[in-house]
Amino acid sequence: MNALITGGLGFIGSNLVDFLVSKKWDITVIDNLSTGSLDYKNLEAEYWIKNVDELTFEDIQDFEYVFHLAALPRIQPSFDEPIEHEDANVIITIKLLELLKQSKKLKKLVYSASSACYGTPKNYPTPESEQIQILSPYALQKYSSEQYCLILGERFNIPVITLRYFNAYGPRSFNPNNTQNAYSSVIGVFNAQKNNNTQLTITGDGSQKRDFVHAKDIANANYLASISPITGESYNVGYGTCYSIIEIAKMFNTDYTFIPQRKGEAMITYANIDKIKKDLGWVPQISIEEGISTLS
Ligand SMILES: NC(=O)c1ccc[n+]([C@@H]2O[C@H](COP(=O)([O-])OP(=O)(O)OC[C@H]3O[C@@H](n4cnc5c(N)ncnc54)[C@H](O)[C@@H]3O)[C@@H](O)[C@H]2O)c1
Repeated sequence: MNALITGGLGFIGSNLVDFLVSKKWDITVIDNLSTGSLDYKNLEAEYWIKNVDELTFEDIQDFEYVFHLAALPRIQPSFDEPIEHEDANVIITIKLLELLKQSKKLKKLVYSASSACYGTPKNYPTPESEQIQILSPYALQKYSSEQYCLILGERFNIPVITLRYFNAYGPRSFNPNNTQNAYSSVIGVFNAQKNNNTQLTITGDGSQKRDFVHAKDIANANYLASISPITGESYNVGYGTCYSIIEIAKMFNTDYTFIPQRKGEAMITYANIDKIKKDLGWVPQISIEEGISTLS
């Protein structure tokens, strides 16, 4: 199997590279290092350090699988720089689809979408059929990109599955050289704060709840989506349970303090994962206790 992974030097992408290399796949990564790191390289993979929108048909024509993760995935910066984020989160996806529609070898495109499209849902746990509610440019862009994948996929026979990740955490979720780190996964921020012997900073009163899913489980969801015969579907990828930020802070056994709440972020994220369990046979394996205890 050969695959192209966009954003494969980022947090989730690099975990996906390791997962597929361990399955003996031939992996090529494209990443422009905007938030990724060369420290996350896997020696068995090939790396192209450039922007996804520089890809040509010659570059992509031989790949059987494409995993599209490259994005600027931070809610708060998307308010301040919406044009830059529109380019990274939507336009490069459309350009990639324009190339993939000509491919004769593509077996599956797996797009990394986001649960941010649910905003403040009416139903918990939240199913894929929940009404869409957009609260930020980032949420709008990820949903728009997902819909481009599905709509152009249907029209041009591009086999595609989109995966709506809930709150990802795990190894490399906090890249110390990334200037947007303040907006990384709270678990990555807490872990870095604990390692630096500083207080954990909880936004708001900490009662907001999140469904945390480990990057290795997300990698397996990508793998199962890629080899499934199903196309044209979107799936939630969460653990199927949720914890308050205070509960998470307490798992780190150290001091914490409070900072102001941020606008545009959901109060509760909590995934209904019945559909992905049934269709793809995916079941998350790593509990939050195990995931936090194995962070370095
Ligand atoms: N982390 C989460 O909790 C979460 C939740 C929902 C969805 N997602 C989605 O998962 C994907 C991966 O997120 P992540 O947390 O690993 O983010 P990340 O910032 O760690 O990784 C993104 C990678 O994409 C690269 N990149 C960005 N724009 C690029 C471009 N134009 N060309 C080439 N490379 C580019 C970056 O350098 C980086 O390595 C994103 O699409 C994100 O929207 C993440």
